[in-house]
Formats: sequence, structure tokens, C-alpha cells
Amino acid sequence: MRTKLVVGNWKMHKTVAEAAALVEGVVPAAESHPEVDVALCPPFLALPKVAELLKRSHVKLGAQDCFWEDEGAFTGKVSPKMLADFCASFCIVGHSETRGRFGKVEVPLTTLSHFSETDETVNLKIKALLYYAVTPILCVGETSDERAAGETDSVILRQLERGLGGVSSDELYGLVVAYEPVWAIGTGQTCDAQEADRVCGLIRGLLGQIGGPEAAEEVRILYGGSVKPENAFELFHMPQIDGGLVGGASLQADSFARIIAAS
Ligand code: 13P
Repeated sequence: MRTKLVVGNWKMHKTVAEAAALVEGVVPAAESHPEVDVALCPPFLALPKVAELLKRSHVKLGAQDCFWEDEGAFTGKVSPKMLADFCASFCIVGHSETRGRFGKVEVPLTTLSHFSETDETVNLKIKALLYYAVTPILCVGETSDERAAGETDSVILRQLERGLGGVSSDELYGLVVAYEPVWAIGTGQTCDAQEADRVCGLIRGLLGQIGGPEAAEEVRILYGGSVKPENAFELFHMPQIDGGLVGGASLQADSFARIIAAS
């Protein structure tokens, strides 16, 4: 039986003081649902404060991105080694916003800078995080154009296969996958629960091919994209969906608390 997991991805929101206030609101709500795992992914600058405030709670700390080297001349980057030093439990990898798509604006692959995410850099980050026992939350998802062209399944399979290249079956146990259709992120257009469940089932099937059915059964697969208190229950109780990666609705304690309660 997989424990439900609800992760708040705060993106580029909250000063340190605002982050502290939000944590103060979320923690009591999370503590009243010990059966649900909860994690918060604040911006890097708020990590120390949030880490301190979460010390005595079961709410876990996560980061929104990382680089794959331990250290070096990589201006602006943060390494998995540094995240582990902060006792971060999770790190989001391959979010559509860091893959260079930034929501509605499609950036041609040829114009992506060296540091924008590709399936290959996602793979490097996943291996580095696993080495430091920080659980990667691997995001996969299709754009609206890809869905319209009937390419949803092939895009997801490509992102998974390339992102997880060289990852062993034992390492798969330490992984979370998030299905985040790009067209559903921040748009209020939630993916239909049956369809989200079908894609999460497809993901589990491929994880089974990579690491065997036992490992695949253990991996938590989250849904992300306009999750709200009103739709969380239906989505999170589908057989293949083990919780959510929540953006906008994680920025207020009240709505995030209602999502935790619905899990
Ligand atoms: P929204 O919940 O705001 O749609 O964002 C989803 C997301 O991108 C979480 O990583």
C-alpha cells in the first residue's frame, strides 16, 4: 500500500518571512493527517528557514531544482550534495518550467541554453540525487500540441526512458514520478481524472519494464496541474495516482490544508 504524498511547489513565490508564515499555517494541518506524507519545496533562499521550522514535524523539505555536480564553477547552481547537507528529502527534476517551456511559451530546443533541462540533464540530476539519497520527483508531461497530435504516450515514455537511463531497479524504489500535463499547469484546466489515471498507469507499466513489477508498485506517481481542494479527492483516489504536486493552491495554507485533508 503506497502512502499518499502531497508536495507543494512554491515556484518563485514567498519571501523568507512569507515562507515562514505559510509553514506555520501548513504544519498543524499536516500534523492532523499523519497518514499523508507532505513535502514543501520553497525557493532556495527560504530553504534554511523552512528547514528549521519543519524540524519537529513530519512535513519534509524539498528543493525545486539542482545541478548534478558536487561543486565547481557553475554560477547560480545548487548541488545535490548541498541539498543533502540541508536534509532535503526531495528535489523536483524535469519540471516543464525548467525544461524551458515556461508554461504557455514554447521555447525551440535549439535556443535552449546549456543549463536548460533536457532528458539528458534530467538523467544526470536524477543519478546525482539518488547518490545523495535525496528523492527525485521526476516530472513528465506533454504540451497541448503534443496531446492534439496524439503524441501523449510517446512523449511520456521518451521522457521516462531517457530520464531513467542507467538507473537500477534498487534505485527505482527511491523515486517519485509526477505526471504534469503542461497544458494543465496554472491554467485551471485540470486533466480528467480517468485520463490522468490512464497515463499514470502507463508510467507504472514502463517503470515495471525498467525495474520489475515489485519496484514499480512501490513508486509513488503524483498528478500535477491545477490541483485544487475541489478536485483533489477524485484525482488522488484513482488507483494509479498516489497524491499530487501542487503549485498555485499550495501558496495559501487554507487551500493546501484542504488538499491534504482530501488525500
Ligand atoms: P498549478 O497547481 O499551479 O497548476 O502548478 C502545478 C505545478 O506545476 C506543480 O509543479
